[in-house]
Amino acid sequence: MKNLKIDVVLGTRPEIIKLSPVLSELKRRKIRYHLVHTGQHYSFKMDRIFFKDLRIPDPNYLLGIGPGTHGEQTGKTLIKIEKAFLKEKPDIVLVEGDTNSVFATALAAVKLGIKVGHIEAGLRSFDRKMPEEINRVLTDHISDYLFAPTTMSKENLLREGIDKKKVFVTGNTIVDATLKNIKVAEKKSKILSRLSISKDNYFLLTLHRAENVDNKERLKEIILTIKELCKKYLIVFPAHPRTTKRLREFNLSKDVKKIKNLKIIEPVGYLDFLKLEVNASLILTDSGGIQEEACILNVPCVTLRENTERPETITIGSNIIAGWKKETITTGVHKMLKKKRRWKHPFGIGNSAKKIVDILLR
Ligand code: UD1
Ligand code: UDP
Repeated sequence: MKNLKIDVVLGTRPEIIKLSPVLSELKRRKIRYHLVHTGQHYSFKMDRIFFKDLRIPDPNYLLGIGPGTHGEQTGKTLIKIEKAFLKEKPDIVLVEGDTNSVFATALAAVKLGIKVGHIEAGLRSFDRKMPEEINRVLTDHISDYLFAPTTMSKENLLREGIDKKKVFVTGNTIVDATLKNIKVAEKKSKILSRLSISKDNYFLLTLHRAENVDNKERLKEIILTIKELCKKYLIVFPAHPRTTKRLREFNLSKDVKKIKNLKIIEPVGYLDFLKLEVNASLILTDSGGIQEEACILNVPCVTLRENTERPETITIGSNIIAGWKKETITTGVHKMLKKKRRWKHPFGIGNSAKKIVDILLR
């Protein structure tokens, strides 16, 4: 069984983070694997910094895909990764999440008759306008092993007619990554002193969803709301490169930089980000992974979207859907600030990577 040939494929910041526990587990059990990086994310602070923070070995293959339209990114990945698979001939390919890298990889593999394992399967926002929703649905339907983080995500898959023999509830590897790295972050990260902030005296904000930042009207309204909130609260905002680019294109950069009490910074590494999360009094975000981490770290979250594929966080009360308008965001902030932090997160106990590898070996 130890001769199983596995290719682990990643391409973006959240995939690097969420696959890191799986890579550690494969290494611990001396199981051979190759690491393929599509290069969808490529800037140091979106890519290499995580290899350093999480002590991930260098990839065996770097495809250098980079930015582009959906068609370009998906098409280029499909062509390049097929070549890597033809050379490597893996028995199984592991992907995580819902990006263009993930869908293109799964499609290339399945057409070559290689088994596909999809980690974080079964998430649904039920919003087909989201590119990620298309990637999720398509990837799930061509995968052979579907590692669903919760029973809710398993039910989504069964409802779509996916064979229950293919579906395994494993928890989410983000719990493994968070629990392992939070201790290191608490010790090592100096981000609070670097930014002259202290526990519970700031909100943490992230924004990168195409539906928010590629739309001028929405981005303007969100920034206006942040400006209002900054009259009362300090906000730390590590800005995603997509957002920085759009702020510039929409001529909003100068206004944002002038907002008093808003600390806009470049994206930070995982240890610094965990430290910022756990010490924040509130998190405002449109990120998927950050909704989960906020829930795990017991920090109230306000989601700047109209839906979420993480509905478990809403049900247990760690998160609220606030949309993108000033009124709903402000109401959401006040509601979540009053919240008693009594929830128990639904994403597992931090042994998801072990469960996934056990299932693969079986
Ligand atoms: C992608 C995923 C999204 C995921 C996010 C994680 C898709 C369709 N979207 O969105 O689901 O939540 O990654 O962060 O796959 N850029 C850089 N440096 C980088 C990466 C991006 O400057 O390292 C800039 C480029 O201008 C690029 C833009 O950001 O055009 C968008 O990058 P892209 O990978 O296309 O999409 P994300 O918004 O990062
Ligand atoms: N993150 C980080 N530094 C940052 C912002 C986010 O390390 O400046 C981490 C965060 O801890 C989470 C992941 O990036 O694990 C989320 O990635 P992102 O929001 O880009 O993507 P999504 O989860 O929405 O797909």
